Amino acid sequence: MIPERMLEERAVQTHEGDFTITVVYSSLTHLYPGMGRYGIRVTTAEGRTLSEFFTNTYEYTPAMGLDAKTTVFHMADEWEEELSAKPFEMMEYFSNIHPRCLPAVEAVDVVVIQGSPRPDGNCGQIAKWIAEETVRFGGTVRVLYPDDMDIRPCIGCYQCYNSGFCTFADDMDEVFGQVQRCRVLAVCAPVYTCSVPGALKILIDRFLSYDAHRRVMGGGAAPHQAGLFFGVCGREGDENFAPLQEIAAGFFATAGIPLRGTAWADGMDRKQDVREVPDFADDVQVQVRRALEQTRASGSG
Ligand SMILES: Cc1cc2nc3c(=O)[nH]c(=O)nc-3n(C[C@H](O)[C@H](O)[C@H](O)COP(=O)(O)O)c2cc1C
Repeated sequence: MIPERMLEERAVQTHEGDFTITVVYSSLTHLYPGMGRYGIRVTTAEGRTLSEFFTNTYEYTPAMGLDAKTTVFHMADEWEEELSAKPFEMMEYFSNIHPRCLPAVEAVDVVVIQGSPRPDGNCGQIAKWIAEETVRFGGTVRVLYPDDMDIRPCIGCYQCYNSGFCTFADDMDEVFGQVQRCRVLAVCAPVYTCSVPGALKILIDRFLSYDAHRRVMGGGAAPHQAGLFFGVCGREGDENFAPLQEIAAGFFATAGIPLRGTAWADGMDRKQDVREVPDFADDVQVQVRRALEQTRASGSG
């Protein structure tokens, strides 16, 4: 948990009991320049937290004419007024706000994010090689298809840095639950217009809230995990993979998982079939095995 500085404390006495409203501030400048999080917390006389509300400085665009500090003090005024006037209703209201948590998923050793919309294309084949090798190694595997999932694009609201959760509750919760508990996260992706296919890009951007979950809430990745990224493209030449190499580095940094291996197969326009690329299956499978060995040796799983 990140350290908090108390800005103000208000005592609220009511016929339902005494409450304290505390306004707090946490600097998040270690995450982003100038980022700070304001919060209010309502506690009972026994010190039990009834409710919390957080807002951070990155939520407010220049045109909004509002800022996090003004908002949080305004909210504290409102809560104080409401709590004094109708404490029972407010306690009811607070008790109906439930904190989010990631779903309890069945943990697997290897999670594969198959980023091509073609289920049985080249990335589909790579996912199959990864799965086969994992099973050969005695491990368990789950392949996720962003194209088949209900995942809303990130809207840049930065609210994930308040609570560690995205404002959207969709299939990403399952992805996070799965990624949080795996040893190896492998991504396979084709080059699409010097980037990755849309559904995969949407999934990648949504990992911002995973970063928030890890670094604001202290949740997220297991201590020993390994990332792998495998790419294919139509044109000839490794230079076509430059954008994917940057995306892979950025993605795994956001996920907090070290990228331990990559493999690239170019020239698919001519070859069509990744199985025609000499030694590529071996290259993929050696890396999967190595990642499984590394993560086992480091005591996870
Ligand atoms: C919309 C689209 C954009 C593409 N853009 C590129 C590109 O910029 N560079 C490239 O080398 N190949 C490009 N390709 C070719 C794919 O990377 C190639 O066909 C790949 O093998 C597809 O992978 P898959 O079989 O896993 O779907 C593009 C293909 C599509 C459908």
